[in-house]
Amino acid sequence: MRIIRTKDYEDMSARAADVIAAEVILKPDCVLGLATGSTPIGAYERLVERYRAGELDFSQVISYNLDEYRGLAHDDPQSYHYFMEQYLFSHVNIDPANTHVPDGANEDVEEATAGYDAQVAAAGYPDLQLLGIGNNGHIGFNEPDAAFSKGTYCVNLTESTIEANSRLFESADDVPRQAYTMGIGTIMRAKRVLVIANGEKKAQAVHDMIYGPITPSCPASVLQLHPDAIVIADEAALALCE
Ligand code: PGA
Repeated sequence: MRIIRTKDYEDMSARAADVIAAEVILKPDCVLGLATGSTPIGAYERLVERYRAGELDFSQVISYNLDEYRGLAHDDPQSYHYFMEQYLFSHVNIDPANTHVPDGANEDVEEATAGYDAQVAAAGYPDLQLLGIGNNGHIGFNEPDAAFSKGTYCVNLTESTIEANSRLFESADDVPRQAYTMGIGTIMRAKRVLVIANGEKKAQAVHDMIYGPITPSCPASVLQLHPDAIVIADEAALALCE
């Protein structure tokens, strides 16, 4: 794993945007695997700035998002599809037909999961997969478990994730209990992965991802086996990695 240490969130976001921008510049029709959450917002803002400055062209870019809450429709303000529109898609010239987020409103689990996986596979898997990391070491919504997951599937969220994500809902009771997420097997097929993390709350998970044993109880630890994994994290998130 390549570790890039940054001073703070702003610096982390700028570096992450640089890596994503480089991919788009070098391969205009690249497949980007995208992530939601608080962590990538700053990087998306910088990509939008660079698009507005005429430095980036997303017209041929294809995107696949990692996950979506089960039960939320695309236009639900709490959905990850809505998040992507809000922070990136509606501000750049990406073709909406080229953007993909698992369909949380699809009650047919098989279609919503295996069908999504088939699409990602047909696209050749992401050239670059952006990942946040949960306080519990999850990536996408791959929660600590007894085994690594394979393809896209329907997951029961842990109390820790429900609690962490409840800040974005009126109350923890409003957080959906399930999600559709790309599995670890799908994520590992990306040609390059970029994990971003900031803040002391992520310090243990970041440490365990980089230095811990490779175990499904810290799903991100599997990235030690990825041939091209980059971690861009601020000093607080790397505090236990001295
Ligand atoms: P966060 O979530 O960016 O909101 O901290 C990261 C994650 O849970 O993957």
